[in-house]
Amino acid sequence: MKFEPFLIENLRIEDLISDGRGLARHEDRVIMIKNAIPEDVIHAWVYKKQKKYFEAEVKEIISPSSKRTTAQCEHFGICGGCKLQYLNYDTQLQFKQKQVEDAILRIGKLQPKTVLPIQGSEKTFFYRNKLEFSFSSFAWKNDKNAPDEWNALGFHVPNFWDKVVNIEKCYLQNELVNKIRNAIRLYALENGLTFYNPREQKGFLRNLLFRTTEFTHQLMVGLILGDSLPEKQLKLVQFITDRFPEITTFITIINSKKNDSYADLAWEVHKGEGYIYEFLEDKKFRISPLTFFQTNSLQALKLYQTIKSWISKPVEIIYDLYAGCGSIGIFVSDLAKKVVGIEYVPSAVIDAEHNLKINQLHHLEYFAGDMSKILTSEFIQKQGKPDVIITDPPRAGMDEKVVKRLLEIEAETIIYVSCNPSTQARDLQILAEKYVLEAIHPFDMFPHTHHVENLALLKLK
Ligand SMILES: C[S@@+](CC[C@H](N)C(=O)[O-])C[C@H]1O[C@@H](n2cnc3c(N)ncnc32)[C@H](O)[C@@H]1O
Repeated sequence: MKFEPFLIENLRIEDLISDGRGLARHEDRVIMIKNAIPEDVIHAWVYKKQKKYFEAEVKEIISPSSKRTTAQCEHFGICGGCKLQYLNYDTQLQFKQKQVEDAILRIGKLQPKTVLPIQGSEKTFFYRNKLEFSFSSFAWKNDKNAPDEWNALGFHVPNFWDKVVNIEKCYLQNELVNKIRNAIRLYALENGLTFYNPREQKGFLRNLLFRTTEFTHQLMVGLILGDSLPEKQLKLVQFITDRFPEITTFITIINSKKNDSYADLAWEVHKGEGYIYEFLEDKKFRISPLTFFQTNSLQALKLYQTIKSWISKPVEIIYDLYAGCGSIGIFVSDLAKKVVGIEYVPSAVIDAEHNLKINQLHHLEYFAGDMSKILTSEFIQKQGKPDVIITDPPRAGMDEKVVKRLLEIEAETIIYVSCNPSTQARDLQILAEKYVLEAIHPFDMFPHTHHVENLALLKLK
């Protein structure tokens, strides 16, 4: 039977679900509502039926929740970022804390000995050290009658693969980045440079990357171009680097592929070294245009400090699994005689090895490859049994084979860093066969989003 959208009046929101939507019940139905928060009373427009619940949007707020606040950003609601801006920050933190605790209890079926309160972010705006904007010849338009084609530089609009909302001011990175981005857009318009046409897959200007540092105040600008037009490229780079001497390094990448990913492409350096450098306490890190580095540097520092405090005393061997450019292993390396890192992406391992050199560290070694293939019993025999394992997998969590391997290794301590409480809880449940969950400590790395990071401390029974 065809679903007919319908209105529910005076619906009271009870809770928030993990993707940030409000949850309410009406008769025997569960309803998920975009942009609604606990204690709101709303008229809801139910537009979709899923197997177990209905999806709705706010038609009218009848009585706003006391947890509501005004979103700062003028692009809020259209741009896909910072979706929880209308929720006051304390409530965002409570929501994230509950999300982690629920996952550990519901999915992991575990009760941690200690549940630490979430570490809120010192900066709730301007906290990101990496942002990527897109050029598009199809701007999002608020006015339906506006011409379809208009050049925009900003973020993709959710559910519209070809539409980009033009961003005048983004609250995620400092004001200088806003100025540079707007200057590039203006220069491009005045000089007739083409913005990427995602439907025809052609155009000169494609993406714009900014990487900043918190403690060394460096700035990388990366321009990703759909075409090689050396003269136009040089003039644009010259204009921007002359106007903004604060730019530490400027690189360009030519991406004439059909997809936007440029992780496999070479870059050309026009100013500086093509790298920027960040300090976390006394350790220095080189960041290339493609290196993974925790996106909120101030929070990363607190996270790493907590990991270090959980190791607490000098040990023989630490394993740093899913090591990226080696940042966690290097940060805690003073506590170990030997650190062994494993990471999938070869260029990240090259970065990690470079970071060893610039920190004059000789007791760390990195191995490139898939975790389940590298972390074998022969490998462990050769490298030595670790006292501490730090594991920081991607959102999908660890492969079951890897979790089972951790059970075989029987390290005294495991510290599990996760950006997805559900997959972490799943893995912790398997580890519970031999480990006690001593503590969990959520961290808010991404204010105004539903994302949460969680640290878990496990001790061998
Ligand atoms: C969340 S990041 C952690 C990076 C690092 N620990 C840090 O704090 O900067 C996860 C890392 O796991 C790596 N990775 C993903 N799948 C992997 C696999 N199967 N084997 C080894 N490393 C993998 C990714 O390349 C990425 O660098």
